[in-house]
Amino acid sequence: MSSILIDSANILVDDELTKANILTENGLIKCISKTEPLKGDMTIHADGLIALPGMIDAHVHLRDMQLAYKETFETGTQAAAAGGFTTVLDMPNTRPPTTSSANLTDKMSRAEGRLYSNVAFQGSLLTDPAELKLMAKQGAIAFKLYLNKALETFDASDQSKLTTALHAAKETNLPVTVHGENGDEIRRIQHESLAEGKTSVNNFLSAHTASIEVTAVRRILGLAASLNLQIHICHITVSEAVNLVKRTPNATCEATAHHLLLNRSVFRKYGTLAICVPPIRTETERKGLWNLFSRGEVDILASDHAPHTLEEKTKQNAWEAASGVPGLETSLPVMFTQVVNGKLTLRRLVEATCERPARIFHLSKKGQLKEGYDADIVLVDPKEKTRVDPAQFHSKAKFSPFAGQRCIGRAAFTIVNGALVAERGKIVGPAAGKITRSDQARVSS
Ligand code: NCD
Ligand code: ZN
Ligand code: ZN
Repeated sequence: MSSILIDSANILVDDELTKANILTENGLIKCISKTEPLKGDMTIHADGLIALPGMIDAHVHLRDMQLAYKETFETGTQAAAAGGFTTVLDMPNTRPPTTSSANLTDKMSRAEGRLYSNVAFQGSLLTDPAELKLMAKQGAIAFKLYLNKALETFDASDQSKLTTALHAAKETNLPVTVHGENGDEIRRIQHESLAEGKTSVNNFLSAHTASIEVTAVRRILGLAASLNLQIHICHITVSEAVNLVKRTPNATCEATAHHLLLNRSVFRKYGTLAICVPPIRTETERKGLWNLFSRGEVDILASDHAPHTLEEKTKQNAWEAASGVPGLETSLPVMFTQVVNGKLTLRRLVEATCERPARIFHLSKKGQLKEGYDADIVLVDPKEKTRVDPAQFHSKAKFSPFAGQRCIGRAAFTIVNGALVAERGKIVGPAAGKITRSDQARVSS
């Protein structure tokens, strides 16, 4: 594999940007030096660019298989690389779902050779400890629990079944990731609404309340704490839920750029296209979430990249619209704009997209620019102005609640395992991504 010299990049040391040269070799960061003369097979002149560790997106739906019409391993990981993400964590709500070791093996073998960013796979949480252990052995990165029952493997409203499943996960030493909304409660409100012929976006929103999220998060944190299980709350949107996470040992959480930067007014412009769960909330809730995120109390940024077709998204009846929005190609530009505008420190952005995701998901050679670490690097152009244009996405989902938004800063070069894969929104390199396995699983016995 050829080596790359990144010449005169700005790197973040403590809280300051300083000039350095970075040499990659054999897929690893070989040397970072201010003074040593370095030589590579290829040189990227990085004057004016900021070199960051390749970003890690802990919440991505790559779909593929029977949902390949929404997204494939190629299109999803090209979107990741173009957006500056060198590693993504794929979710198990696929068809077939990642609910067994056989399905995980099958998914991994289908993905092999088709990845433009690294991919780690989340399996579904199950009650069977033997099956979870097999998935851990195959390299699952975490186990996902949908409290809204989006992926029914067992009845999570049954406390004893849920406890059994969490015990089983604890034995693998892998984190459990959670969709924190109570599905029974949502469906109860939905049925009432439908019976009264209420089908608007507002009716949909009234079923996905903040209090439903807080109650679900409180319930799972209580159970996890009693087991001292590592728990990670996905796409958190309510300050009260974040505060519960902060009070629980071994618990972390993520927020998406759309929940951090958009409010209810997005529905006036985009209607059902902006529907996702949990939904984009009020300005008061958004502000509260932003404050906690910018202070580091929401651990990480994750996109919850959830591609669907335009046809599935645009429905008269809001209950019938597919929920989820793509985010891999907008997260960095919209968040970097906040850095440029002084609303977020670069340090905090790096912590939220590189360092903490690597720590939470036990990716021991990722998340930092360090000699010997994987050569996953993104060179950000902090001055480049772009406008969010979904027609240009590599993702098959050509819509965005950020469409039309002006941004400053984007991924100029994305290097995955020492190969240049993307340059200013274009895919220029090979499918250099690898299947990434957990460094944490306890697989013996
Ligand atoms: C996700 C999807 O489409 O798979 N949708 C969403 O609205 N967030 C599922 C999920 O993350 O809960
Ligand atoms: Zn979810
Ligand atoms: Zn999701």
